[in-house]
Amino acid sequence: MPDLNLILKKIEPSPEEKTRVENLAKQLIQIINQKAQREGIPAEAILVGSVAKGTRLAGKADVDIFITFPLSCSEGYIKKKGLKLGHHAIKKLGNGYEERYASHPYVTGFINGYEVDFVPCYAITEGRELKSAVDRTVLHTRYITAHLKANQKGEVLLLKRFMQVVGCYGSEFKVGGFPGYLAELLILEYETFMGVLEQAAHEWRPGYQVDLEAYGTASQFNDPLVVVDPVDEKRNVAAALTLQKMAEFVVAASRYLDNPSPDYFFRKDKKIDTKTLKEEFLSRGTVNLVLTSPAPEIPEDALYPQIRKTEHSLMKILKRSGFRVWGSDSVSYQGRILIILELEVNLLPPFKKHYGPQIWNRVHSRSFQEKYHPHCWLEDDTWVALVKRGHTTAESLLKYVISPDGIHHLRTGRHLKDQLINGYQLKALPEFLEEEKPDQKVLAWLYHYLHKDELPGDIY
Ligand code: UTP
Ligand code: MN
Repeated sequence: MPDLNLILKKIEPSPEEKTRVENLAKQLIQIINQKAQREGIPAEAILVGSVAKGTRLAGKADVDIFITFPLSCSEGYIKKKGLKLGHHAIKKLGNGYEERYASHPYVTGFINGYEVDFVPCYAITEGRELKSAVDRTVLHTRYITAHLKANQKGEVLLLKRFMQVVGCYGSEFKVGGFPGYLAELLILEYETFMGVLEQAAHEWRPGYQVDLEAYGTASQFNDPLVVVDPVDEKRNVAAALTLQKMAEFVVAASRYLDNPSPDYFFRKDKKIDTKTLKEEFLSRGTVNLVLTSPAPEIPEDALYPQIRKTEHSLMKILKRSGFRVWGSDSVSYQGRILIILELEVNLLPPFKKHYGPQIWNRVHSRSFQEKYHPHCWLEDDTWVALVKRGHTTAESLLKYVISPDGIHHLRTGRHLKDQLINGYQLKALPEFLEEEKPDQKVLAWLYHYLHKDELPGDIY
C-alpha cells in the first residue's frame, strides 16, 4: 500500500508555486477590473476553477478567470467587452493569445508559462437564472469552496491524478472522461479518494446516480453515470463521460484496490522503438492502414467530434463492404489528423454473395432471376446471387470514399471534408513508419493502440 501522503507531496503545488499562480491571478483580475471601471463597463472579473478551489495539481498550467456581467447586458455586449478586457490583460502581462470558440467564445492568454482562460459570462446567483453553460462555473466554485473540507483537497488531487494516469481525466471531447468538478463532487459524496475507488469498483453500473442535494431529478438523465449538479438540478455533471471511460475507470479502481502501486500516480516515460513497434504490428498478422490529413484550424474541442465521426464512418463503410474491422483510433497532432484502421484482410474476392427474396413471392422471385441469371441459385427456398464487388481491396475502397465522387458516402464533419479530399495520404503501417519517421508522441499513440491494457498516462 503506497503512502498516499507521500504521493500527495509530489502532486500538489509547492507553497511557492501556489503563491505565484495566485498572485498572477490577482494581478490579472485587478488589471481587468480597473480597466472596466475606467471605461464604464459593468464587469467584474473573478477567479474560478481549480486555482480558486485549491484543487489544482502541480504543474498544471491552466488558470480560469471569468468576467461576469449583469443579466441586463446583451450577449453581444458581454462577448465584445469581455473579450476586449481579456485581450487588454494579456497585452499587459502576456506574450500571445488564442481565441477559442467551442460552445462559447473566450480568449486564452499565454502568460508567464500559464494558459489563462478569460471567459465572459453572466453573474448569476442561482442555477435557474443561467443563460449559457459557462454561467454555472462561478456557482460551482462557490459550492466547492463552501463544502469541501480543507483535508479533502488532497483527496481531490489524488483522485484527479489517478484519473489522469489511467487516461480518464477531462471532459473535453478528445477524452470524454471526468471533469475536475466531477472529481470534487465524488469526494464530497464519498469523503476520500479510497472511498471513491471502493464505490466505483464495487457499486457503479450504467445508470448509477449521485444526488448530493437530493433534488430527485437524477432519473431524468439517460447517461452512463448521473451526478446531479448541486447548483443546477437540470444538469448532469457527468454528461460528457463516455461508457468506455466509465468502464476503464471502474476496472482501474478495482485493479488498484487489488494491487495498489505508486505507478497509478507517476507514469514512467517509455521510449518507443520504431523497429519493435513495426514488428509487433506485423506479428499480429492484420492489415493496418494509417490515414493522415491536414487538420483545419479550429479548437480541439470542435475538431475531435469531427475526427471521431470520420473514423467511425470509415469503419462502418468498410464493415458494410465485407471487411472485418478489428479496431481503429484517431488523434490530432501538430496540425494533422491521424486515423489508424486495423482490418483482418486487405483483399476480398471479386464477387460477393447477395441474398435475395424467397421464391414464394412469385413476382420478386421472377425479377431476381431476370436480373441475376445465370449467376444465381437457391439456398433452401431463398435466392442467392453472385455480384461483382465495386472494390476488392480496402485501400481502393477508402480511396474512393475520400474522392469527390465517393465522399457523399462518408460522414466527415464539415471542416474535415475538403482537407481530406485535397490533402489525405493513406499508407500501410510499415510504410508509414519508414517514410514518415514519426516522433515519440505518434509512436506512443500507436503503441497504446496495441497495448490498451497498459496505463496510458497523459501520452498525447
Ligand atoms: P476546468 O476544466 O478548467 O476545470 O473548467 P477545473 O475545475 O479548473 O480543473 P483543472 O484543475 O483545471 O483540471 C473550469 C470550470 O468549468 C466548469 C467547472 O465549474 C470547472 O471548475 N466545467 C468545466 C464544468 O462544469 N463542466 C465541464 O465539463 C468542464
Ligand atoms: Mn481549470
